Amino acid sequence: MEPDRDIQTTPRGFQCTLCKVNLPNLPSLDQHVKGRKHKTLSTVRATRKAQEEHSVFVSGIKPDVSRTDITEYFEQFGPVTDVIMDKDKGLYAIVQFDETESIQSALACVEHQMKGLKLRVKPREKKEFKLITKKNDSQNLQQVLNRLKPELCQLGSVDAQMQYIVERFQLGENERKARGLLVQLLQEVFIEFFPDSGILPFGSSVNTFGIHSCDLDLFLDLENTKVFQARGKSTTEQAGEGMSDDGRSEDSILSDIDLSTASPAEVLDLVAVILRRCVPSVHKVHVVSSARLPVVKFHHKALNLQGDITINNRLAVRNTRFLQLCSGMEDRLRPLVYTIRYWAKQKGLAGNPSGAGPLLNNYALTLLIIFFLQNCDPPVLPTVDQLKDMACEEEHCMIEGWNCTFPSQPIAVPSSKNTQDLCSLLAGFFSFYAKFDFASSVISLREGRALPITNFLSKNKEEEAKQEEQPNKASHHGPKLGPLNLLDPFELSHNVAGNLNERMQVSFQRECQEAEKYCRSLQYQQKSTKGKSWGLVRLFTPHGDVPHTKPEQLTISIPFKSASLPEGLCNQLHVVGDDFRLLWFQKVCSAVERVLLSVLRCQLAPSTVAIYGEVSAVDATEEMETTSASHNTSANDSCDSVECKDEASPLGTAVIGAKRRLSSGSDASLSPQGKKPRLARRSEHEPPCWICVQKHIVWARRRKVKRELIKEADSNPEGSCMELETQVTAQIVEKEPELKEPLEFKVQPQMMGGTESTRAVFKLEPISDTTGVFHDFFHFLEAFLPKMAETLLTKEVGSV
Ligand code: UTP
Repeated sequence: MEPDRDIQTTPRGFQCTLCKVNLPNLPSLDQHVKGRKHKTLSTVRATRKAQEEHSVFVSGIKPDVSRTDITEYFEQFGPVTDVIMDKDKGLYAIVQFDETESIQSALACVEHQMKGLKLRVKPREKKEFKLITKKNDSQNLQQVLNRLKPELCQLGSVDAQMQYIVERFQLGENERKARGLLVQLLQEVFIEFFPDSGILPFGSSVNTFGIHSCDLDLFLDLENTKVFQARGKSTTEQAGEGMSDDGRSEDSILSDIDLSTASPAEVLDLVAVILRRCVPSVHKVHVVSSARLPVVKFHHKALNLQGDITINNRLAVRNTRFLQLCSGMEDRLRPLVYTIRYWAKQKGLAGNPSGAGPLLNNYALTLLIIFFLQNCDPPVLPTVDQLKDMACEEEHCMIEGWNCTFPSQPIAVPSSKNTQDLCSLLAGFFSFYAKFDFASSVISLREGRALPITNFLSKNKEEEAKQEEQPNKASHHGPKLGPLNLLDPFELSHNVAGNLNERMQVSFQRECQEAEKYCRSLQYQQKSTKGKSWGLVRLFTPHGDVPHTKPEQLTISIPFKSASLPEGLCNQLHVVGDDFRLLWFQKVCSAVERVLLSVLRCQLAPSTVAIYGEVSAVDATEEMETTSASHNTSANDSCDSVECKDEASPLGTAVIGAKRRLSSGSDASLSPQGKKPRLARRSEHEPPCWICVQKHIVWARRRKVKRELIKEADSNPEGSCMELETQVTAQIVEKEPELKEPLEFKVQPQMMGGTESTRAVFKLEPISDTTGVFHDFFHFLEAFLPKMAETLLTKEVGSV
């Protein structure tokens, strides 16, 4: 591997030319070089290079020439390790030798005659290894939009534009028929191998939101086959081998597998074999058993269609029915879904290629739209609980313990009193999510409201404990919490946006804010008389066309990751309820302060202000009421940031003097005076900050020192990460010379939340940096600080 030649220094940091990624600093460069992508590409490149150096290009062969013919012929020049032939036409081959000398011999031979053919043998062309990026994706998006633009611009209203989007993208009649025929064919094939099985389409092909070339999602229902098999077994036992009672042969694929005990992966392997062998035009069949729901993927050549078959997805068939019902109840839903899906695709927010990824999936996006419509005033759609109550007895439906009851026909649901047009509903969607407090909410379509996240924080742990006590009892664990929590309307333990990462959630909200702003402009609502882009066209402009110029800010962000919080902290946050943010923020600040002071040995110079007090879970609610009144800090009022400080706090004294005992998360409930500590309160106009002084280059050579320390100790004792890092600093301080002039910098903490996702942000600013080392230290802190703070938080709170 040659990492060095791939790395170039740029004005904004580094660039890895092999992987085509920009890296802002040394820690991220280091991480990248050690990462999977870089390693894989380096290996592939090395393998290709070795192959190139060991092979020759042979042309002039005919399709009936076999690999063996070629191998036998070229072995006269030296051992042949591989022969690669062009698959379709069989006109050329690449012959790979074991030794490079064999190439010289083969090339030195003036004439190559094989089976009456005159072969031409050439050295391999030296091609530079390049990663082919999926640039075409965004180019395609742009091309489609370019074609759409004039058509949309000439329409008279946004409503008409939205209807046009449906017309333009929806699955055509012929496409639907073709899909139907393929489903029928699959049904006929599968029933031969799995008697009484059913194959049921779900997802975009049938949920009324499908677009040209969308996937074909299928559920292979083997419930009746299991019954058939069980029956067959008992009959065979009674009557001897051979035939089952209804005359169907037992000598089928079914005799190889016991459906009642086989794992999904085993069954899907069989499904894959059937697809490969028995369904015409199907290719690229493979099983993905690592997915949440294992699946067989295939491609249908003639229809140019991607298909997925799952075997345990009855809930998806039901939620597809639910989406169909919503469409049937409310005509405005389809134009909204098509428009918002297209917008999200253009902005790179939705539509994970190959299903997995950190973007919103289309199902989640559709649920977000339905949730918004449940929350309009008056509501456009009823809640799922309300729908359940409108169903009659025959429509009662339980799947895997979840209540999936709703009316089968839209007629059973009273029409909405909401009369808003599409244009204002679309603007309303953006405005709703632009302000939505994702960090403290779990979206429930079932109840049609956002539930407080604190309701879920200790649920998982409770469930785990229950499971341990009664392992045989079926349990519905809580949802996997993440930056965006959107409960499936039926499977209430499933967060359908659980795959989303912090960055995508932030992007989603930012794009909603941008869109909201645009929707308030005249360009959105009124057709341009000068032929300019208007309405949806500007909304759809993909990323990159509108430059997002952001000034470079030296900030370090620590996100609130509800999923990875330690149990102790979960419980404390659970107690304070809606005001959980401030409590969490204080814990993070304490941890950061300790990392700066104790681990990195920064001295904290006298500052004009102190920062935080501690808050106990019990106290927080009472205190928040006081602070929120004067500082707008309530978790629900959509403020963007909160700054807080308390001059009399125990932590504050430690910051100012840097000498007194530090408080930390572990002694969260009592102050040195034995009183319950108080929450931060602002009393000065200057923003709160720490003033730090660093005299040593504690960020350099850390890894080497750490390795040596570990070697000396002959082990890496568990849970000693903080101690180890502290020792590393001590070694550096002891052995390395001091900086000529100490580095002095300011750290200003801020709590972000409300319209932004919850996180603690630390703004760093140099005060005195005569040796010019501040940026190096900052880049080191960018990775180090969040990691260490998180470790400390887990350890300290865990031990409460
Ligand atoms: P998709 O997210 O693929 O949606 O989920 P889609 O509407 O089919 O859009 P395309 O395929 O990207 O065009 C497909 C189906 O899988 C089920 C739902 O039934 C959904 O309609 N699904 C998906 C779930 O049940 N849960 C999930 O978390 C995701």
